[in-house]
Amino acid sequence: MSTFYITTPIYYVNAEPHLGTAYSTIAADVLARYHRLKGDDVFFLTGVDEHGENIQTLAAEKGISEQDLCDQMAPTFTKLWNKLNLSNDIFLRTTSEFHKRGAIKFLSALHEAGDIYKDKYKGYYCRRCESFYTNRELGDNKNCPVHKLPTEWVEEENYFFALSKYQDRLLAHIRANPEFIQPESRRNEILNVVESGLRDVSISRGSVSWGIPLPFDQTHVIYVWIEALCNYITALGYADDGEKYRKYWPADIHMMGKDITRFHAIIWPAMLMAIDLPLPKQIFAHGFLTNQGEKISKTKGNVIDIDALIGEFGLDAFRYFFMREFSFGNDGDYAHERFVLRYNADLANDLGNLLSRTLGLVAKNFGAVPEPTTPGEFDDEVKEMARETINKVDALMNQRSLDMALETIWELVRRVNRYIQQTQVWSLAKSEETKGRMGTILYNCMEALRTVAVLISPFMPDTANRIRQHIGLDESDQGLDTVAQWGGLPAGKTIGRAQPLFPRKDLKKVVEQLESAPEAKAEKPQAKTTDNLISMSEFQGMDLRVAEVLSAERIPKADRLLKLQVDLGSEKRQVVAGIAEHYAPEDLVGKQVILVANLEPAKIRGIESQGMVLAAAGKKELALATFEKEMPPGTQVR
Ligand code: MSP
Repeated sequence: MSTFYITTPIYYVNAEPHLGTAYSTIAADVLARYHRLKGDDVFFLTGVDEHGENIQTLAAEKGISEQDLCDQMAPTFTKLWNKLNLSNDIFLRTTSEFHKRGAIKFLSALHEAGDIYKDKYKGYYCRRCESFYTNRELGDNKNCPVHKLPTEWVEEENYFFALSKYQDRLLAHIRANPEFIQPESRRNEILNVVESGLRDVSISRGSVSWGIPLPFDQTHVIYVWIEALCNYITALGYADDGEKYRKYWPADIHMMGKDITRFHAIIWPAMLMAIDLPLPKQIFAHGFLTNQGEKISKTKGNVIDIDALIGEFGLDAFRYFFMREFSFGNDGDYAHERFVLRYNADLANDLGNLLSRTLGLVAKNFGAVPEPTTPGEFDDEVKEMARETINKVDALMNQRSLDMALETIWELVRRVNRYIQQTQVWSLAKSEETKGRMGTILYNCMEALRTVAVLISPFMPDTANRIRQHIGLDESDQGLDTVAQWGGLPAGKTIGRAQPLFPRKDLKKVVEQLESAPEAKAEKPQAKTTDNLISMSEFQGMDLRVAEVLSAERIPKADRLLKLQVDLGSEKRQVVAGIAEHYAPEDLVGKQVILVANLEPAKIRGIESQGMVLAAAGKKELALATFEKEMPPGTQVR
């Protein structure tokens, strides 16, 4: 039996899980379930990343111990994962003893390999990422490429891993194994980074106490990222060379979001090379889920209410939508409208109708699964397509094209609906002569539904079971091999009408309802928590100025936007502001507003905007921030 070991990132416990973190984990769950369906011996790891400076700081702010903070936060993940029906085999916490022992063993091995040395590190550091960045990565403004906020200059004595030593071997490995980093865009990105030269990386922190002490210098803790990467082997019992470790390592796939590919595709394999351990077979990085173009994250306060979505559509529709709607590997912008449209088209119409039409006709005319006695036109085409679908889905799952695998299953669903139309099966009940043909067509529809149920089971486990029950099967015994042969559905089982699997939704009503869900209602400033604290130096990085509006005009075909010319004392600026629904252009002239003067210029609807005006922005209301008395244009706002 083949083994299949799949992992998700381990998530930081300084914020509760959200749609973005759920996305990675559901995708991994789908692959884990698919491989179980194929009969593989699967091990599916997920967990939480509990050490590091961010956790230490948050615990101090809350006035509780770091361990208490982790103990409070870890269950928020397990609770959501249970709700999402995830089938992970282990939920790893990095504060557990087996992980600590494993990480210590790993660092000792690296040390013994002679690839660790002590040095002074100087560089730009982002505290949120807990990561140093090079000048090249930062660009001119020295802002963190992930958070777009100023980094700090840090000088610190640290231990280093001689990453540069592995540059050539790594490059050769990536080149020789096209599947190693996927999708292609990420592979090219990593190839570029490695080709342009690797620098050694720091693997310890002397200034942080919440972590695992370095085995060879207890005054330092292991840098949280290095320790976190070890989780992929510590989870298997690497500390004791356990049976699982010997059975499942190397991993078949490390699944993650594109933000953390470099750690996984460069540092992790190089460290494994250093201690002669096999490399994971694949690093797969999917895109981000965004909300109005911005990455969904707790820090940004733009999360989507998962409970409200599941409450409205049901869990399986939730899992289906996120796996189907967005091309896996690329970013996808969430909108309630997209959910309702996709739900109505694919689930209520295509799949729901196929089941209810088929069962309705069977129940009315036969009362049981009919015998396929009378072959006829289109039968072979449907059978052939069902068989091909199984193969195509397999190829697509191996390419991690999860959305296309679903699309392929739905092509079959739509083909069978067409078969019902083409054969006009409902009209064949008229005479005993045609009833044999009717039974055969309906049998074929049920048999196709049996195939569909098995294929969708990794994505929609409960729906798959409901379909199976409806067509007279029990929930067990649904491996891929059970649908390899056409005709496996036994005739004669009593069949009743189906309750609608996915009742249709009213687009307008549902969108309105979801927009008033608790998390959607939380305005961004209120959604801020102490996770969002910024340092004084980060605040000072912003150049806020008094700006006087000289003129304002509407922008054709952009209902929300106004183009403003503002006076900044020493210069004039043009700014595009999304305030047209709240201010008439003529009312703005002469108003003094606050301008973020050092914002990167951006093109909005093709018009250059050289700054941003500040306003209090609620869901419906908006008010520009102005001054209590007139000030000279250009005065700094502090
Ligand atoms: N702790 C590290 C990972 C260590 S793995 C050895 C970390 N944690 S995290 O909590 O920040 O989670 C990052 C992961 O969450 C991303 O790589 C991605 O898998 C997922 N996502 C978080 N927000 C996301 C979106 N908006 N969209 C899609 N996935 C996102 O980094």
